[in-house]
Amino acid sequence: MKKLMKFILAAVAAFGIFALASQPANAATNKDGKNKVLIVYFSRTKEVYNGPLKVGNTKRIADDIQKRTGGTEYEIVPKKPYPNSYNKTTQVARREQQNNARPAIKNKLPNVKKYSTVFIGSPIWWSQYPMIIRTFMDKEPALNSSSKTIIPFTTAEGSGLGNTASTIKKAFPKAKTQKGFTVRGSQAASAQGKVNRWLKSLGY
Ligand SMILES: Cc1cc2nc3c(=O)[nH]c(=O)nc-3n(C[C@H](O)[C@H](O)[C@H](O)COP(=O)(O)O)c2cc1C
Repeated sequence: MKKLMKFILAAVAAFGIFALASQPANAATNKDGKNKVLIVYFSRTKEVYNGPLKVGNTKRIADDIQKRTGGTEYEIVPKKPYPNSYNKTTQVARREQQNNARPAIKNKLPNVKKYSTVFIGSPIWWSQYPMIIRTFMDKEPALNSSSKTIIPFTTAEGSGLGNTASTIKKAFPKAKTQKGFTVRGSQAASAQGKVNRWLKSLGY
């Protein structure tokens, strides 16, 4: 009986240690229990190199970040949907860039004041963040603060992070930044391991 009790106690202790060890080092809540990580993303599910997709490539990475950090996701939804066709979307995106456009966001913006770390993710469009990300940045001046850390992530077919890090620096010169993450769109669905290694290197 004593042996059995010892075994049960040891098993409970081992499980406790395992449960603690599998927690992210820096869970996304602060002292008040409020979530402090925000994951902002824009992602298309329509036709793309490896599409049409059930879940957009960039949303896959946003979900991976959410799982590791316990943060809150915010999806940027365009008021005017982009075309289903990949080719047409490239044309619309090109025009938006040339016109320095700020396409409207359909959904309510998040209260960024509640968060200290904000990940901003999207596909790369013509080597940059799509202009709708710039709309988001313009509408969130509170992100330009030394109490905020802003981190880019992207999916792309060859352009990597493009100039997203410098776009963040330009828009929010007072904010801190950390190393971003990028993966080829077609590998986004199986990138959790890579995402976790990157987040670990940032302290999560
Ligand atoms: C309008 C448009 C422009 C694109 N421009 C680039 C580019 O310049 N460089 C690149 O590597 N991929 C480019 N791509 C590919 C996307 O970045 C890639 O397929 C991405 O994973 C799509 O992510 P999503 O499913 O989250 O929208 C472009 C795709 C679209 C639709």
